[in-house]
Amino acid sequence: MRYLSWRKLDGNGPLWKGGDGPFPNAPKNFMDDAMKAMTEGTMFHSVTYGKNSMGSYASQMNTKQRWEVIAYINSNRAG
Ligand code: HEM
Repeated sequence: MRYLSWRKLDGNGPLWKGGDGPFPNAPKNFMDDAMKAMTEGTMFHSVTYGKNSMGSYASQMNTKQRWEVIAYINSNRAG
């Protein structure tokens, strides 16, 4: 879970590291206005089925865990 850049929710975690990490594409920044506006349902869909270069997390987190992560993001993103 730390890969989301947990504390800041900015997507700039160890897999990205501003482009120096092993992941080829930048994860989304949950502090961006567009991501602040995203509904929990949309986030759940992306994390369940994958989105662009992010794969599905359905095999690693069960339904309850995915909602828990989203509830965490939702209560910690600003705005
Ligand atoms: C459980 C943890 C995660 C959650 C809840 C999550 C959530 C999301 C959501 C909601 C989107 C859709 C954004 C949109 O529609 O605009 C997204 C896209 C994406 N995520 Fe994740 N993500 C997680 C983990 C990761 C990890 C670990 C990486 C890679 C290090 C990653 C990389 C990406 C990328 C590259 C995209 C596509 C960005 C784009 O379309 O420009 N995600 N993520």
